[in-house]
Amino acid sequence: MRKLSSVLLTLTYIALSSSLAESQHTLSVDNFVSERTFEIDYENNTFVRDGKPFQFVGGSFHYFRAMPQTWQRKLRTMRAAGLQVVTTYVEWSLHAPKDGVYDFTGIADIEEFIKLAAQEDLLVILRPGPYICAERDNGGLPYWLLHKYPNILLRTDDEDYKREVAKWYSVLMPKMQKFFYANGGPIIMVQVENEYGSFYACDENYKLWIRDETLKYTQSHAVLFTNDGPGMLRCGKIPNVLATLDFGAADDSSIDQYWKTLRKFEKKGPLMNSEYYPGWLSHWQEQFQKVDTKLLLRPLEKMLEDKASVNLYMFYGGTNFGFTAGANDGGPGNYNSDITSYDYDAPMTESGDTTEKYFALRELISKYFPLPDIEVPENLRKVKLPDVHLKPYSVLLDLNGRRHLSSFTVTSLNPMTFEALNQNSGFILYETKLPNVKRDPVLLKINELRDRAYIYVNRQFVGVLSRENKIDSLPISSMLGEDLQIIVENEGRINYGIANDFKGIIGNVQYNSVILLNWTMTGFPLENYRQIDDLVSVLRRKYGSNRTASIKSYLRSGPTIFHGEFILKESEIADTYLDPTLWGKGIAFINGFNLGRYWPIVGPQITLYVPKEILRIGTNKITMLELERAPENGLVSFTDTPNLEGY
Ligand SMILES: *[C@@H]1O[C@H](CO)[C@@H](O)[C@H](O)[C@H]1NC(C)=O
Ligand SMILES: *[C@@H]1O[C@H](CO)[C@@H](O)[C@H](O)[C@H]1NC(C)=O
Ligand SMILES: *[C@@H]1O[C@H](CO)[C@@H](O)[C@H](O)[C@H]1NC(C)=O
Repeated sequence: MRKLSSVLLTLTYIALSSSLAESQHTLSVDNFVSERTFEIDYENNTFVRDGKPFQFVGGSFHYFRAMPQTWQRKLRTMRAAGLQVVTTYVEWSLHAPKDGVYDFTGIADIEEFIKLAAQEDLLVILRPGPYICAERDNGGLPYWLLHKYPNILLRTDDEDYKREVAKWYSVLMPKMQKFFYANGGPIIMVQVENEYGSFYACDENYKLWIRDETLKYTQSHAVLFTNDGPGMLRCGKIPNVLATLDFGAADDSSIDQYWKTLRKFEKKGPLMNSEYYPGWLSHWQEQFQKVDTKLLLRPLEKMLEDKASVNLYMFYGGTNFGFTAGANDGGPGNYNSDITSYDYDAPMTESGDTTEKYFALRELISKYFPLPDIEVPENLRKVKLPDVHLKPYSVLLDLNGRRHLSSFTVTSLNPMTFEALNQNSGFILYETKLPNVKRDPVLLKINELRDRAYIYVNRQFVGVLSRENKIDSLPISSMLGEDLQIIVENEGRINYGIANDFKGIIGNVQYNSVILLNWTMTGFPLENYRQIDDLVSVLRRKYGSNRTASIKSYLRSGPTIFHGEFILKESEIADTYLDPTLWGKGIAFINGFNLGRYWPIVGPQITLYVPKEILRIGTNKITMLELERAPENGLVSFTDTPNLEGY
C-alpha cells in the first residue's frame, strides 16, 4: 500500500465546517475528531477515506454552465440522488479571459461552488486540465495563447506553453489548497491533464512535467488521477498517478475487458470509470443524441458490483452561454460545431429538473449507498410569454453598425486571423476590391475558412461558404460590382482532435487564379453589450418608428441587429425558452446576457434556455443578431418547453 501522509484538522476546516454545521446536511461528525485522509490502498484495490475503504458514485456538473444563483439547488438535487461526489472541470479561458486578467466572480466563482458542494454534503473531484475538452471553445485553453505565441505547441513540452500553465496554476492552485481533503475541504481527487492518451503528441516529458506541476500544490492532500478511453491508456497513463477509465453503457463482458485493459497499465488500485455517459453531446446539423435509461442501469450495477467507483458524465449538463461552445474534429477536414445546449440527455435537464432517468438511477444507487435524508427538489415552474415584436435597427456593415460595434479596423496585404488580431469570438469583416478579370462568372474561393463566411458584393448578399459543409467557393458575376465584403463567423474552436484551431481566413482568397490582396479587417467581438444598447438607443432617437426598409432588405445588406422590449410581472419571472423557429442563424441577448448561438434552420436545437435570473420585473430587452432570415413580422416567442430535437 502506498500510504500517503495525512494532515490533521486545520483551522480552515473548522471555519468551513462551522458554517456547514448550520446547514441541514453536515459532514459526518467523525471529521471533527479524526484525521482526514483520502488515499489509495493499492493492495486492497480501494480508495480509503479516513481509514475506511471507500467506493462512490459521483456526477459531473460544470459550474461554468449554470447561473451561480442555481448552483446550490442543483448540487442538492445531485446529492438527493445518492451521489457522494460532484466532479467539475476548471476552465482556464473563463478565469483568464485576457493575458494577465483574472476573474473569479459570478459564474467564475469556483470557490463558492466548492463551498456549496461541501455544504450540500458532496465531496469534490477537481479536473483543472488545463486542457479540459468539455465541448468548450478551444477545450478551455485561452485563445490568447495563440495570439501571444502563434507557433505554440499546446499540451506539449513547449516552453511557452509550460510557462503559461505554471503561471495559471500559481493563481488557481493556492485558491484550491484549503479545499483539499487532507486540508479540511471536500476535494478528494485532482486530475492530471485530460484524456491525454487521445492527443496526438503523446509527449512523455510533458506528462511528467504537468504531473509534478500539479503535485507541487496537492502534495499528499488529494489523490492524483488520469482518465482515458480503454484503448488510449498507452499515452494516457502517467507514472505514479492513478489511471482510470472513460466509457459509456456496455455489456458485462465488455466491461470485464475494459478493466482487464486497465490492469495492464495499473496493476493494482481501485477501479474507476471517471466518465460513465448517461447521455451524449450533440452537434449542429445532426440528431439530438440520447441514451436510453434502460441501457444505463445494468452497466452501472455491474461496475458497482465490481467494486468500482463511477462518475456520471454529465449528471447535470447545463448551457454553453455566449460564445463558449466548442467544436469537434471529426477526422481530416471534418468540423462539427457543438450546440448551445449541453443538456446532454443527462439525468437533470438544462434547467436542473429531474427526469425519469434521474429517478431510475437514484433507485439503483440507493441499493448500494444510503440515500441522504433530503427531499428531491421539485421541478421549477416554466413560463410561456406573449410573442415579442423585434425591429431591425442596423446591419454590421453600415456606418452606424461599424461605428458602434467594431473594436478595430486594420489593413494588411494578406488576411489575418482572429488570433493575430487578438479577437476571441464573434465576427471579423474582411474587405477588398475585386479585380477586373475578363470572365463572367468568376469563382471566389477561400482557402482554409474557419468557419463560416457570408459573402457580399457592393454590400449585397451573394452567398455563404462553410467549413462545416466543406463548401469553400462560389461563382460571382462580375456584373455585381467591385467591393467585396466577407463576414467570417467563428463557430467555436475545436475542443477535441486537432490543436491550434485558428479562426478567420487562414489561407488566401482567390478570384479565379488571382489571389486577392490588400485587405481591410474590422472586428466585431460583440462582447460588450453596452455598445449594442448604445447603437439601438441612438437609432431610436434618430428615426423613431419611421423606417421603411423591409426586414428582407436589411438582411440582404448584412447581419442585422434586431431589438425589442417586453414587460414582465412578478409572476412571470420564471425559466423560459426563446423560440426562434422562423429565424435563421445568430445570437440572442436578453438584458445584455448572451444566451448563445441559435440555428433553427439546421437544428437539432431550436429553443434557447432563458434562466429566470436574467429576467426582470418591468421592462426587459431582447436583441438578436440575425445573419440569414427573419419573419417579416419580426416576432419571436417564448415557450415553456424546450425543443432540442428539431432535426
Ligand atoms: C487489506 O485489507 C485487509 C482486511 O481488511 C487488512 O487486514 C489489510 O491490512 C489491508 N492491507 C493493507 C495493505 O492495508
Ligand atoms: C496593394 O497596395 C499596395 C500599396 O498601397 C499597392 O502598391 C498594390 O498595387 C496593391 N495591390 C493590389 C493587388 O491592389
Ligand atoms: C417620423 O415621421 C413623421 C412624419 O413624416 C415626422 O413628423 C417625425 O418627425 C418623424 N420622426 C422622427 C423621429 O424622425
